[in-house]
Amino acid sequence: MSARVPPRLWVLLAAFVAAVLLTAQGRALAQQGPFLTARHVVQLPADDPRAGAWDQAPASEVPLIPQGAVMPALRQTSVSKVTVRALHDGKDLAVLLEWQDATRDATTGHPDLFRDAAAIMLPVSEGIPNICMGAAGQIANLWHWKADWQEDIDKGFQDVVDAYPNFYKDFYPFASGQPPFRFPQDFAAAEAKNYSPGLAAGNPLSQPVKTSPVEELTSQGFGTATHKSLQQVNGKGEWANGTWRVVFSRSLKTADPEAPDLAARKDLPLAFAVWNGSNQEVGARKQLSSFLTLAIEEAPAGQTASALWSSETPLWMWGGLGVAFLAVLGGMWMALRRTPSAGA
Ligand code: HEM
Repeated sequence: MSARVPPRLWVLLAAFVAAVLLTAQGRALAQQGPFLTARHVVQLPADDPRAGAWDQAPASEVPLIPQGAVMPALRQTSVSKVTVRALHDGKDLAVLLEWQDATRDATTGHPDLFRDAAAIMLPVSEGIPNICMGAAGQIANLWHWKADWQEDIDKGFQDVVDAYPNFYKDFYPFASGQPPFRFPQDFAAAEAKNYSPGLAAGNPLSQPVKTSPVEELTSQGFGTATHKSLQQVNGKGEWANGTWRVVFSRSLKTADPEAPDLAARKDLPLAFAVWNGSNQEVGARKQLSSFLTLAIEEAPAGQTASALWSSETPLWMWGGLGVAFLAVLGGMWMALRRTPSAGA
């Protein structure tokens, strides 16, 4: 074939091939970017924010803005961005957040002290929820890591005596042990618990013994954040040289109606929030991101074709690509017909 195909048709063909490959990955061409790809690893560093395995995860730098929509608002960010990475082992997902914070604020023992914290928001229902913690009928699942809960896990419950070293109590009804008495060790007796009403009432925020530094909440818009009865998220946070690194981890699969089944969702919008305790940030006073799309990479089942071609690609997309392909071919044929052959 001596006739020349105009270069623009080759470009079209190349674009078409790229589109096919993206679609085969089940990626909607017009998907909400930016993306966060959860890479597959064999050993998941679910409780190690400094593990070398995190170098395998592509990093997304996510800008943060101050929450200025409702009072108490934040007028200016004290943390301007958070770097996010994600890994999974086919069973669990781990997400690492890293941000700059010159001070490590891990206690709320004094009324004027606030802790550092970070959160991830995931939608439970399909679609992209309202960024302000969902809305009526749009349930948001919140994973809230708190530096003071981390401190309680790493060093034991941080009691009043830790905030006020000169605190002393020489008598406590029903407490065992010696003054000034340690909470909760010396308050095992049921009667003694009555002197800690929050604990006695079962308030989750009054539980001195923490099993995870992450609280899982549900909300349908700001002002509705509620502790979830089923707590499934683990985590580990470490501060060093002015930087927090915090891992959140959870199983991919869940039957919990108040949380997204990550195994069943190919692309999931995620948003982040960060609180800086030394800037008196708590609750609504925080910085937050816009949405990112979490793409969970297929586990490499021997790199089989099935790993590449996802059954999730909607038929209309194949139809559209088919028409485009025929149009490109048609265009090439037309061009060939119009080009007079060298011998003519
Ligand atoms: C402009 C959007 C937002 C507004 C107006 C807003 C507002 C609020 C308000 C008023 C509270 C306190 C009342 C309550 O507990 O519901 C709150 C708490 C909270 N918000 Fe938001 N929020 C927004 C976005 C976000 C995002 C994107 C996330 C997560 C990525 C988030 C996570 C949380 C968490 C975990 C709490 C509980 C904090 C605590 O107990 O200290 N919020 N927010």
